[in-house]
Amino acid sequence: MNNSFSLKGKTILVTGASSGIGKAVAIECSKSGAQLVITGRNEERLTETYHLLTGGNHLMITTDLSGSKGLDVLLTGLPSLNGVVHCAGIIKRLPLKFIKEEKLEELMGINFYVPALLTQQLYKRKLLKEAASIVFISSVASSFASIGNIMYMASKGAINSYMKGIAFELSSSGIRANAIQPGMIKTNLSSALSDEELAIDMDRYPLGRYGKPEEVAYAAIYLLSDATLWMTGSILTIDGGLTLR
Ligand SMILES: NC(=O)c1ccc[n+]([C@@H]2O[C@H](COP(=O)([O-])OP(=O)(O)OC[C@H]3O[C@@H](n4cnc5c(N)ncnc54)[C@H](OP(=O)(O)O)[C@@H]3O)[C@@H](O)[C@H]2O)c1
Repeated sequence: MNNSFSLKGKTILVTGASSGIGKAVAIECSKSGAQLVITGRNEERLTETYHLLTGGNHLMITTDLSGSKGLDVLLTGLPSLNGVVHCAGIIKRLPLKFIKEEKLEELMGINFYVPALLTQQLYKRKLLKEAASIVFISSVASSFASIGNIMYMASKGAINSYMKGIAFELSSSGIRANAIQPGMIKTNLSSALSDEELAIDMDRYPLGRYGKPEEVAYAAIYLLSDATLWMTGSILTIDGGLTLR
């Protein structure tokens, strides 16, 4: 039986696959039948993800994406793709008066420029197959304020707008772009909060807990699959109800 939610026969690139959400996206996509190209900075943890993938013929490319050289390393080794999930990202909390240009550049660099320029290069180099699906991991922080989170909020707002621009511009070639905006997911990134901050924060979630990386991965599979061939420019919120009120 034809399963529209299957990723069988699809080749998917996942950035940030050495940790957290990207790791779960890679593992779950492989369980759904995809061939993976995984990338991250930390070779040891990326190799760990690689060994957790189901099936064979997966590819692993270790590189730091924060410079053009690192991006070239990735692009040079890539096969053509049915999908990409941009998971690499960082968080830096600084109240307005402490924001400095280099901090802003570092955060916007990995959270915005990397997915923006990687997508552009994939398109220019014709590495995106017909009906390819591009998935950006944004955040509810794009429009939901918290103290000291200005730079991160701006980076995710920028990626949402960029995604919509791409969705519109590439629609004539059948390529789709969508974003997932999670609330707090338990990963290394969320451990930037103190235990006290975490306890207060978790109380705000109507479903009573933080999300799991796999719960973001399932949404990514949906967006990568043929079940969403008519879906582009959308932002899928997965936040346990946080932004309901
Ligand atoms: N966790 C949350 O609560 C949450 C909520 C909403 C949105 N998000 C978003 O989800 C995405 C993944 O976050 P996460 O929680 O999974 O974080 P994580 O566990 O810290 O993983 C971040 C990933 O990004 C990679 N990365 C960071 N800088 C890089 C660079 N310069 N070059 C290449 N790779 C780089 C890391 O690679 P290495 O480890 O190899 O260095 C790692 O694989 C981020 O975009 C984040 O903003 C997270």
